[in-house]
Amino acid sequence: MSIAICPGSFDPITLGHLNIIRRTSRIFDRVIVCVMYNSNKTSPMFSVEERIDMVQRAVYKYPNVTVDSSAGLLAEYAKQFPGAVVVKGLRAASDFEYEFQMNLINKKINPEMETMFLTSSGKYTFLSSSVVREMARYDADLKGLVPDEIIEDIREKAKQWRSS
Ligand code: PNS
Repeated sequence: MSIAICPGSFDPITLGHLNIIRRTSRIFDRVIVCVMYNSNKTSPMFSVEERIDMVQRAVYKYPNVTVDSSAGLLAEYAKQFPGAVVVKGLRAASDFEYEFQMNLINKKINPEMETMFLTSSGKYTFLSSSVVREMARYDADLKGLVPDEIIEDIREKAKQWRSS
């Protein structure tokens, strides 16, 4: 059985992420979406538990997709699934530079680990979790940026932010 791991911080999951997950689910028998820590992103909007819950509600339509989380290294996590391939989305050349470096580090830790990249759908090239967080801060319309199932979660969290 072919297994893909789609890692990310998903703070929050966007339609760009979901597009990559959906396309990955058509290629592999099983997809594990792994909610992880990104040490460059030190003040997340959502807790890991909240992010897992939102990802679960976003992927419910895809029967071969499950959600997991890890507070460790991706390359160590992948060792649990021998032969699994890590799949990441690439939006632009700047993503590639970062991902290329990450891939080399991950290979050093786990030489068996393979990473594949799917190019982002053109309509989501501009989209990132940080864009969504920024728009939410200003109470902008999030339709078409994140799954409908989680819009209210983000609006509610942004409201708490504004009042704190
Ligand atoms: O959605 P993101 O923030 O771009 O995802 C990045 C993520 C979480 C996949 C990356 O930061 C990661 O792999 N974190 C786990 C820790 C790790 O393995 N870091 C890279 C080697 S130092």
